[in-house]
Amino acid sequence: MALRTLFLSLLLLSICILSTALNVTYDSTSLLFDGQRKLVISGAIHYPRSTPEMWPDLIQRAKDGGLDTIETYIFWNHHEPEYRQYDFSGNLNFVKFLKTVQDNGLNAILRIGPYVCAEWTYGGFPVWLKHLPGIVFRTYNKPFMSEMKTFTTLIVDMAKKEKLFASQGGPIILAQIENEYGDIMGAFGEDGLKYLDWCAKFAVSLDIGVPWLMCQQNNPVAPPPMLVACNGPYCDSFKPNNSYSPKMWTENWVGWFENWGQSVHHRPAEDVAFSVARFFQLNGSVMNYYMYHGGTNFGRSAGGPLITTSYHYDAPLDEYGGLNQPKWGHLKDLHLLLKSLEKIMLYGNSTTKTFDKNKLESSTIFEFNGTKACFLGNSHDDKDITLELLGKNFTVPAWSVTILKDCKTETFNTAKVRAQTSVKVRVPSRTNLQWATKREYPIHYKDPLFEKHALIKSNVFLSDEAPDQKIANDTSDYLWYMTQFTVHDPKFGEQILLHANVSGPIIHVFLNGKHIDRWSGSYSSHGFIYEQLLNIELGKLYHLSILTVNAGYANYHAHYESYVNGISGPVKVVSQNSMHSMVLTKWELRSGLGGILRKMHLGSGRWDQSVISDRPFVWFKTTFDSPRGTDPVVVDLLGMGKGLAWVNGFNIGRFWPSAFANNQGCDSCDYRGDYGRGKDKKCRSECGASTQRWYHIPRSILKDTGNMMVLFDEFGGDPSNVSIQTVPTGHICANAPADTTLVLSCEDRMLQNVPPGMYGAAATTAIGKVFTEVSFASFGNANGTCGPVPKPFQKGSCDSPNTLAAIKKACIGKELCELDVSEKTFGTSNCTSDVAKKLTVSLKC
Ligand SMILES: *[C@@H]1O[C@H](CO)[C@@H](O)[C@H](O)[C@H]1NC(C)=O
Ligand SMILES: *[C@@H]1O[C@H](CO)[C@@H](O)[C@H](O)[C@H]1NC(C)=O
Ligand SMILES: *[C@@H]1O[C@H](CO)[C@@H](O)[C@H](O)[C@H]1NC(C)=O
Ligand SMILES: *[C@@H]1O[C@H](CO)[C@@H](O)[C@H](O)[C@H]1NC(C)=O
Ligand SMILES: *[C@@H]1O[C@H](CO)[C@@H](O)[C@H](O)[C@H]1NC(C)=O
Ligand SMILES: *[C@@H]1O[C@H](CO)[C@@H](O)[C@H](O)[C@H]1NC(C)=O
Ligand SMILES: *[C@@H]1O[C@H](CO)[C@@H](O)[C@H](O)[C@H]1NC(C)=O
Ligand SMILES: *[C@@H]1O[C@H](CO)[C@@H](O)[C@H](O)[C@H]1NC(C)=O
Ligand SMILES: *[C@@H]1O[C@H](CO)[C@@H](O)[C@H](O)[C@H]1NC(C)=O
Ligand SMILES: *[C@@H]1O[C@H](CO)[C@@H](O)[C@H](O)[C@H]1NC(C)=O
Ligand SMILES: *[C@@H]1O[C@H](CO)[C@@H](O)[C@H](O)[C@H]1NC(C)=O
Repeated sequence: MALRTLFLSLLLLSICILSTALNVTYDSTSLLFDGQRKLVISGAIHYPRSTPEMWPDLIQRAKDGGLDTIETYIFWNHHEPEYRQYDFSGNLNFVKFLKTVQDNGLNAILRIGPYVCAEWTYGGFPVWLKHLPGIVFRTYNKPFMSEMKTFTTLIVDMAKKEKLFASQGGPIILAQIENEYGDIMGAFGEDGLKYLDWCAKFAVSLDIGVPWLMCQQNNPVAPPPMLVACNGPYCDSFKPNNSYSPKMWTENWVGWFENWGQSVHHRPAEDVAFSVARFFQLNGSVMNYYMYHGGTNFGRSAGGPLITTSYHYDAPLDEYGGLNQPKWGHLKDLHLLLKSLEKIMLYGNSTTKTFDKNKLESSTIFEFNGTKACFLGNSHDDKDITLELLGKNFTVPAWSVTILKDCKTETFNTAKVRAQTSVKVRVPSRTNLQWATKREYPIHYKDPLFEKHALIKSNVFLSDEAPDQKIANDTSDYLWYMTQFTVHDPKFGEQILLHANVSGPIIHVFLNGKHIDRWSGSYSSHGFIYEQLLNIELGKLYHLSILTVNAGYANYHAHYESYVNGISGPVKVVSQNSMHSMVLTKWELRSGLGGILRKMHLGSGRWDQSVISDRPFVWFKTTFDSPRGTDPVVVDLLGMGKGLAWVNGFNIGRFWPSAFANNQGCDSCDYRGDYGRGKDKKCRSECGASTQRWYHIPRSILKDTGNMMVLFDEFGGDPSNVSIQTVPTGHICANAPADTTLVLSCEDRMLQNVPPGMYGAAATTAIGKVFTEVSFASFGNANGTCGPVPKPFQKGSCDSPNTLAAIKKACIGKELCELDVSEKTFGTSNCTSDVAKKLTVSLKC
């Protein structure tokens, strides 16, 4: 024990000694660290999109993937959910997150905003901000600037107090104020310019000792000394619109997010690598992946409207923190190579030559102190070309960059992926779930239940006109609009039309406490007109409740504070011939669900031991044991409708497995061509299937046994197929060029680095997975791909005779195998000399 204490204090001492101040400055080439130029290869990991137990592993894997920096936004609405009530606990502990980054020897970029967009509800602004008198977001507006100043100052002060800035020995090397302001500032005219100026002056006044940046603020250019940076799938043609800023790329979009009702996006590793190599070829020096780990929109944090709970983004680390292979490995190979050329690239001369008038064909020679490094670029969509470099010809495939470490031989080509592809499978746990259910309490005007419940009273609003759903701030996805009416005038007849103008994805309509209707707009439209014929009795009193549902508040566009959610126009009763109408007034509003007030999401209340299927507004409860091992855990919710899910009281997010995707974009996945233009048409998966069927349950919230899962389903569902599943690697495949070393593995978790608690108590012993079968092997010119949009493997015209036997020998029964990809291993092939041989292999885990 004493020894351990001594060891710990020595460790702390050494950390203190290491944490000396770093002077971060810049010139037009790069950032300077104590005067030294360095390449910055960074990746975004948003701390609230994972759990604190996942952070060390995510950061370690980012480091193993060749990153030197982790970037995050700050999420104001979660930190200040109510005016001047702050929360920095659990996965909101950004200080702890940044210290974990530092403990791993990485730097950090802190993008405070505090507007962040980020597909995060309301762009990260607390909804209460909207209610401050006279407020206009993101322009020269006193109430807004005052709140922005208060919150930003608070964050900076917290970071200073913890000595988190590099100037204090901390990890933060750059900070950002505002976010992509240049994209919307046109809407604000002169005030936009004044605000831009104010942002810069305010940032500088915070005196953090590291440079500030503003991304997407090149025209008009951000005021000095703000650095400028580009966001997008490609930023090679970006040129800072000032003399002092290095060429920086704050968001390399490695994929994209989904809306409910869309198929799933993938951006090929070849294309991401191409974008990176090209950026560095053309003098880029700071690059950040958006995202490196996308993670999960837990709770009600997804933005919108209509953004899914998964925020995987097809990032190099998958939603659960595992390696998204081959993307992770291919980019790692590129990062290590770029780092090895850092000095030549940042201190040397660079000469770029273009070979055609559109500058699609180029060569760049970096030269420093007698050493050289070369890049050959081919930006043609579909034309492979030959380029001459220093008296030698090189073939460069379409849409790729070749890097030649010594300018003589090809070291790396962005289109030639050596890293293995890992295909994840889902394995259901064997036990059937037993369900208890309970109906939610639809409420109506002057509901006695509602009157007597103290908690409910504090949530009551009265209004003549139906107001914006945001009147309740962001306390729930659900707002009840309740009123009563009687039709006396016989001119209306006995059939009336109920009419409402709705802004938002869904409403439920209750008449006298009975659910009579559910309406939703299309997944792409943000509002609709609700009209329904009702049979009524003249002179009779009707209780009408309309429940509006939020599925993420808008997170983008100028003036989004003026957007209305919920019922956005008058609600009317109209005679069938449209000649007469009556506007309904005297609304009573209540935010939230009766079940939540009764803590049913925590398992409380009385439950029935029978299943109520396919009826709206039902609570479901079950318990399950944690699956053994360390593979990620998900719940398959196919069969359920839409709602919210909790595990052990932790809100794992909105679920909506009944939102099905269209059929576009799943047929092909050619990495070549502009991904920004192509992403809606190619490399999609889950066409015709549920947009999101599986929902992440972080292992760190699980106990060994008796975990409680509660679902609230507003549409109605059948839980008979719901199951807890794990997501291991099912098989792997690879296409490795000759004369390289290929490392294959079934395990993407570095088990020796598992911090305590990472996988919950169930993971006492890690079970390493081994290769069980070689399903395809050819060293020659086979074709095919595996991955999200697979093409079956097929032998080509030639290959080596011993390929299958050699791979079986090297890999079966092993967790990891290493192969020398050459005829030495696989035997002499019958390929002619013009064939570029490669090893095409597929193995089961
Ligand atoms: C950091 O470096 C710059 C440029 O060399 C220099 O002007 C400045 O004084 C340095 N700051 C500190 C705190 O050493
Ligand atoms: C919403 O926030 C505003 C501003 O802080 C506050 O005045 C109002 O009372 C809040 N409403 C609710 C229902 O909490
Ligand atoms: C650079 O910024 C100035 C003003 O800030 C603007 O007038 C100019 O058009 C910008 N140039 C480019 C190339 O964006
Ligand atoms: C890169 O920077 C060098 C100066 O270091 C310059 O000569 C060259 O033109 C730049 N290349 C490009 C493509 O901007
Ligand atoms: C850059 O090129 C010039 C002229 O070609 C040469 O004089 C100079 O030494 C070179 N600098 C480096 C760092 O290689
Ligand atoms: C330049 O190269 C020489 C000889 O290879 C070496 O001694 C020297 O340290 C190098 N200079 C720099 C600045 O790297
Ligand atoms: C490279 O290819 C071009 C066009 O095919 C040819 O004209 C040239 O002679 C070749 N150069 C070398 C060094 O082989
Ligand atoms: C619905 O209400 C919104 C907000 O009041 C309004 O902008 C929109 O035009 C209305 N739509 C219709 C079809 O009346
Ligand atoms: C459960 O799955 C089976 C097999 O796929 C299917 O036939 C059945 O319709 C599903 N039941 C529900 C309620 O989704
Ligand atoms: C794959 O290989 C087979 C056999 O050589 C060939 O017929 C086929 O055209 C190839 N397909 C592609 C897409 O290259
Ligand atoms: C190469 O050998 C394979 C069998 O290993 C055979 O199927 C193929 O036709 C041969 N190809 C050539 C070009 O001889």
